[in-house]
Amino acid sequence: MNDIQILIVDYGSQYTLVIGRTLRELGVRSVILPPQKAEKWLKNNTPKAVILSGSNWSVHNEEAPELPKYLDITGKKYSILGICYGMQLLAYKLGGKVERPLTHREYGPAEVSVNIRHPLFTGVKEKTEVWTSHGDTVTKLPKGFISIATSGGVSAMTDINNRIMGIQFHPEVADTKEGKKILQNFLNMSHCKQDWNPKNLIHEIQTEVLQVVDKNKTKKTNVILGVSGGVDSTTLAAILSPVLGKRLVCVAIDTGGLRANELAELKKNIKNAGVKNLTVVYAGAEFIKNISTTIDGEKKRAKFREIYKKIFEEQIVKYKAGFITQGTLATDIIESGKAGKSALIKTHHNVGLSWTVKDLHPLKNLFKYEVRELAKVMKLPSAIYERNPFPGPGLYLRIVGIPVTKENIELVREADKTVTDILKKHNIAKDISQVIIALLGINSVGVKGDERVYGHSLAVRAVQTVDFMTAKGYYFPQNVVEEITSALTKHKNIVRVFFDMTPKPPATTEFE
Ligand code: XMP
Repeated sequence: MNDIQILIVDYGSQYTLVIGRTLRELGVRSVILPPQKAEKWLKNNTPKAVILSGSNWSVHNEEAPELPKYLDITGKKYSILGICYGMQLLAYKLGGKVERPLTHREYGPAEVSVNIRHPLFTGVKEKTEVWTSHGDTVTKLPKGFISIATSGGVSAMTDINNRIMGIQFHPEVADTKEGKKILQNFLNMSHCKQDWNPKNLIHEIQTEVLQVVDKNKTKKTNVILGVSGGVDSTTLAAILSPVLGKRLVCVAIDTGGLRANELAELKKNIKNAGVKNLTVVYAGAEFIKNISTTIDGEKKRAKFREIYKKIFEEQIVKYKAGFITQGTLATDIIESGKAGKSALIKTHHNVGLSWTVKDLHPLKNLFKYEVRELAKVMKLPSAIYERNPFPGPGLYLRIVGIPVTKENIELVREADKTVTDILKKHNIAKDISQVIIALLGINSVGVKGDERVYGHSLAVRAVQTVDFMTAKGYYFPQNVVEEITSALTKHKNIVRVFFDMTPKPPATTEFE
């Protein structure tokens, strides 16, 4: 395997892994490490470039993360690109000034003027749309640096040798229209070559897992794989099945929170992925009993995790397994606060659990669209790689503000099917990344057949996104809104239907 060409130092921005993903789209692999680990890595490795990520810290904060000790900031060994906090940290440490002027605080879209023709902006328009999120800003450049782009303040800087550069906006976010071009320019300036392709990656995952499994001192080489029928776990099953054979035991749990027909589809998808060894554990009653005691989203997730873990531990014993593996993705890890110093957004059901056996997360550096690419390369059916995501805790997260009961679950399950069928009928499903129907537990007054009704509401939310790190709300055509509203209010307890187009951020995709 080629040496890693790019080190990304993760200062905790929500978008750090998106930098890695964008570089991969450009064909270049990278390693993402928090500052202390980056320090050790740099001691033994010399990349072609280092990228310093954004962060929620200010450089003036006493505990703010530092530049890695062994980072060569002369630019002799490799080029450096600081993004947002990364740029501020470089400027501050090299003698510049970082302040918080009201005039240059930017959140969301902004327009940047490219002042001089610099190789970082080759092919980029003179006025370009970017995505920003910063209060601090570089107000005085370090000695030997010049400003190469502005947006009310300095938006990009470089040293005279074009080796140390900084950008205040986020080139990795899809809303920065020419962000990819800027990153490609940086790769060119750093002399990086393309070294990533999905076929190699499948082979790498297979080899790495096989090596770990074969080296197990306990001689237990069975591997339990938790499958949900979704693209991640199904693709992982298809990757591992050829190399592990009978040692791969796929386990699916019927949590009671699955959508209509989900179990049947799961069985079909797992079979299509070439897996022969599938066990289904029916545990709906246990999940409902425990989860119905709380309406708090995070507490529900905690209870779900507890039972989920218990069931898998039982399966580990039953199948004398030495390993457990899951299709955990980069997004799950970031939002569970496990990547670098990212903030906790949600406790994902399968991230950060401690098991009695070694756990493997072979897809942990990948984003969903990349896993879909792997599935395509393996020629899995389109039903697998085009499948919309669905959270592990399932419909339990779609009952908001009231206790989960069997009846409420039935109601959201039915509503989900109704909306999904309408979207299919109108051929809209293909334009949407995910659709969510949530039962809102606030009573309001309605009138049905001249009678007063005091009942609940349903929220319908559809989003469009590439990686679920950010998302746009989808606006349904009016006739579809009317059809959905009419269909959903047929239920005797449903009085109103709300359509939620809030983007992420500030909202998340799910309600809980
Ligand atoms: P949020 O709501 O965080 O969701 O914007 C991003 C994507 O992740 C899914 N999601 C989960 N998936 N276990 C999962 O397997 C979970 O606990 C979980 N929580 C959210 C969500 O449906 C969306 O696709």
